Amino acid sequence: AADEEVVGTVKDQLAKLFEESLRVTVPDQTDTDPLIAACNPRFGDYQCNNAMSLWTKIKGTGSAFTGPQPVGQAIMTNLPRSEMIESCSIAGPGFVNVKLSRQWIAKSIQKMLIKGIETWSPKLRVKRAVVDFSSPNIAKEMHVGHLRSTIIGDTLARMLEFSNVEVLRRNHVGDWGTQFGMLIEFLFEKFPNMEVVSDQAIGDLEASENLFRKLFIYKCSSTYSKVLVYCILGNKVVKVSSVKHWYTVPDNGAFYKASKQRFDSDPGFKERAQQAVVSLQGGKEKYRKAWSQICEISRKGYEKVYQRLGIVLEEKGESFYNPYIPGVLEELGKKGLIEESEGARVIFIEGKKYPFIVVKSDGGFNYASTDLTALWYRLNEEKAEWMIYVTDVGQREHFEMLFTAAKRAGWLPPGDNSYPKANHVGFGLVLGEDGKRFRTRSTEVVKLVDLLDEAKSRCKAALVERGKAEEWTEEELEQTAEAVGYGAVKYADLKNNRLTNYTFNFDQMLNDQGNTAVYLLYAHARICSIIRKSGKDVEELKKTGALVLEHPNERALGLHLLQFAEIVEEACTNLLPNVLCEYLYNLSGHFTTFYTNCQTSPNRWCCQSLVAFVLWGQRRRQADSCCVKRLQRSCGN
Ligand code: ARG
Repeated sequence: AADEEVVGTVKDQLAKLFEESLRVTVPDQTDTDPLIAACNPRFGDYQCNNAMSLWTKIKGTGSAFTGPQPVGQAIMTNLPRSEMIESCSIAGPGFVNVKLSRQWIAKSIQKMLIKGIETWSPKLRVKRAVVDFSSPNIAKEMHVGHLRSTIIGDTLARMLEFSNVEVLRRNHVGDWGTQFGMLIEFLFEKFPNMEVVSDQAIGDLEASENLFRKLFIYKCSSTYSKVLVYCILGNKVVKVSSVKHWYTVPDNGAFYKASKQRFDSDPGFKERAQQAVVSLQGGKEKYRKAWSQICEISRKGYEKVYQRLGIVLEEKGESFYNPYIPGVLEELGKKGLIEESEGARVIFIEGKKYPFIVVKSDGGFNYASTDLTALWYRLNEEKAEWMIYVTDVGQREHFEMLFTAAKRAGWLPPGDNSYPKANHVGFGLVLGEDGKRFRTRSTEVVKLVDLLDEAKSRCKAALVERGKAEEWTEEELEQTAEAVGYGAVKYADLKNNRLTNYTFNFDQMLNDQGNTAVYLLYAHARICSIIRKSGKDVEELKKTGALVLEHPNERALGLHLLQFAEIVEEACTNLLPNVLCEYLYNLSGHFTTFYTNCQTSPNRWCCQSLVAFVLWGQRRRQADSCCVKRLQRSCGN
C-alpha cells in the first residue's frame, strides 16, 4: 500500500532520513527541521545544512561535540541505511553532502513512468485557493497589463491544480462604481430604447462587417421600422450601414472615452450621470438593464481573448460583493478598526502615509471596501485558505493595506507563513524596444488582441515560408500558427522573474534557437517523432526493461527529471512561474546532451518518452496534440 502513495519530492524523502539522524544525534533538540538544499554538483546532489545552527544552539551546554564539523560527522554517521544514497561526505563546517544512487534514480523515474506524472505532484498544505487574475474593467480596454495578469494567473492556477489544490479562478472585473452612471447616461443619450441583441445577430454582423471585430455592440430598436448600424469611432458616432439592427462598439475603450468627455464638459450631463448611479444602486429596472448590457458587451470581448489563450475563468466582479459590504464594514467597525477622517471612514495602517479609505466622503463604497469584502467572502463563504492576487506592482500598496487590515481584524494570522494566507503577485511593466512603457505609435496603450494577431500571423508566415501551405490544410496551418504564436507570447512573459520589466520583442520570442516556447515545442515534437519513427511501443517499453543509468549525461538527465516535483513545489510556494520555465529549458538541454552522447544507451526510448511527458505536461488539450503531430512532421525527423 505504501507503494501507492504519492512519493513526494527528493528533498522530502531525504529530509525524512535526516530527521531520523537528527533525532539520534541531538536527542534534546526535538524541534530541529532538516535543512536540505541542492548542492554544487562537484560535491554531490544535495546537502544537509543543520550542523552550523545546531552547534550554535548546543555549544556551552555541556554537549560532547567540539565544533560544527563533528556535529556534521555525527549526522552523517547516524543516517539510516537507505537505497536512496550512494555516498556521503563532509564539507566545510559540517555540511553533509549526499550523492544519490543511480539505481534509485532509475527506479524512481521508472515508477513514475508506469504510474503517471501525477504521482510526482508536490504535497502542498492548502486544499483550496483563490487565484484572482486577469480582472479587466468593464467598458475600458484590456491592455498588456491585463495580458500579463491573465497569463501569470492562469499558469499559477495550473501549477496549483497539478499539485491537487482546488483553485477558484476568479475574474474580479471592475463592473461597479460611479463610472457606470456616466456610461449608462451616455448609452441612453446615444441609444434610446435599446434592447438586448442576440448572439446570432452579432455573429451575422461580425461576418459581414469586419469593423465590428473591434467594436462593442448594442442593439436599439428605433421608432422607425428601419434600424441602423452605428459604431463609435474616436468620439464620433458613425453610421456604418442600414441593416436589421444597430450597434456600437467598445473594446478599444472608445465608448468609455466618449462618455468621459461628455461627463467632463457638460455639467448637466454630469448631474444626470450622478443621478443615474443612485438609480442603478437603488436597483431601478431600466438602469440595471443598461448596466448589465454594458457588462455583457465587454464580457464578449474578454471571452474571445480567453478562448484564444485557452483560459478558464469564473467571473465574480466587484458588483457581486456589493451587497455584503455594509455587513463587513459593520464587523470591522465593531472591532474598532474604522475611524472618521475628513468626512471619510478609514482604516489607519501603521507605516503608511495615507489611510485605507473604506467609505468615501460622499458615503460611497470603493475599490478598497470591495476588496475587503471579497477577502472576507473568500475566507468565510468559499473557505479558501490561500488568496492570490495577480496585478501589476503598482497595486502593491493597496494589497499591503488590505492584508494588514485583514490581519488586524483577525481574519488572517499575523506573519506571512501560516494559513489562511494572502499574497499579492505583482509583476513589472512590458517595455517597448525603446525601453519605455510599451505603446503603439499613436502613444495609445497596446491592445492585447493586436499582439496575439501579430504573433499568429508571423508564425503563419514562417510556416508558409517553409512550404507548409502546400503540405497542410488551411485549418492545420491556422491551428499550428495559433499554438506556436500564442505559446510564444505566453512563454516570453513567464520566463522572466515576474517582478522585472521585460521588453516585448517578436523576433526574440519567435526565435526557434533561444529560450523560447518555439524551441521547447520543437524539442518536444522532435522527441515524439524519434520515438514514433523507431517503431517502438512506448507503453510496452514503460513496463519492460529496467532503466540503467550508466553514462554521466544519462544520470544527469534522470536526476533532472526526478527534480520536477520539487521545482513545481518551489514555483508554487514562491508563486514564480519562471522557475518552472527555467527547469523546462534546462530539461531540453539535458535531453539534447543525452541524445548526442548516449546513442547506444539501452534507455534511450524510456528517457525520451519521459522527457516528452514532462515537457508537455499532463493536461494537454486536443488541439495541442494535433499541433504536435504537425510539428513532428515539420521537424522531418
Ligand atoms: N480591475 C483591476 C485593474 O484593472 C484589477 C483587480 C484585481 N483584483 C482585485 N481583487 N483587486 O486594475
